[in-house]
Amino acid sequence: MQAVIDRAFCLKHPVKIIQLFGWDVFIGMLWSKDKTLLQRIAEKYQARRVPMPGAIGNAYKLSALFEFRVAHIYAAMAERFKANREVSQLFSDLRDEEMEHGRLMLTCLYQVAVNREVDFVPSVRDEEIRESLNELRRIEHRVAGMTLEEAFKVTNELEAGEVNIIFGRLLQQVGRAETELFAEQLKGAQSHPQSVPRRISELKKRLGPEGLAAAA
Ligand SMILES: [Fe+2]
Ligand SMILES: [Fe+2]
Repeated sequence: MQAVIDRAFCLKHPVKIIQLFGWDVFIGMLWSKDKTLLQRIAEKYQARRVPMPGAIGNAYKLSALFEFRVAHIYAAMAERFKANREVSQLFSDLRDEEMEHGRLMLTCLYQVAVNREVDFVPSVRDEEIRESLNELRRIEHRVAGMTLEEAFKVTNELEAGEVNIIFGRLLQQVGRAETELFAEQLKGAQSHPQSVPRRISELKKRLGPEGLAAAA
């Protein structure tokens, strides 16, 4: 993420990181740069905690699946436009950010409290949800034949769409300090529905009409 919580953030906020996630996670961040904070937390929880069971647990897994699918689309776009370093970099960054969103949903899976009022529970059994997943699969297959203009359009549409609504609502209803830290980072100008269109138009401006035509 431009909002990835990385090593630098952890070194700046040691007390907070230790309180929320434990010494082991902090020391891991201190000694090695190979993983993001979310990667470490997701691994720790998967090894030691019990995930939320039933429909609620499935809703968080479903959202993770959506995020990972969008990550696949951006990975395909990075590959499609690899001839242009800047364009390819933007899509690779977006892929990394979507992977983090997916990990965040998996982390949430271990934190939703049973006694909280959880009223938003999307399910893979919903016809609409299944259709959205299929649509993402279709988009991924179309990427190889896309022009750059199409890829940008599809990206903006994805970011304005259902995937982010589901992600945002599920994140909101967790209501735990561990997750708040990430929710805070993903708000406002950092959030994808706001930031991605802006990053695309900045890139277009930097490339200019000739650069865009060459990259397409
Ligand atoms: Fe996302
Ligand atoms: Fe996104």
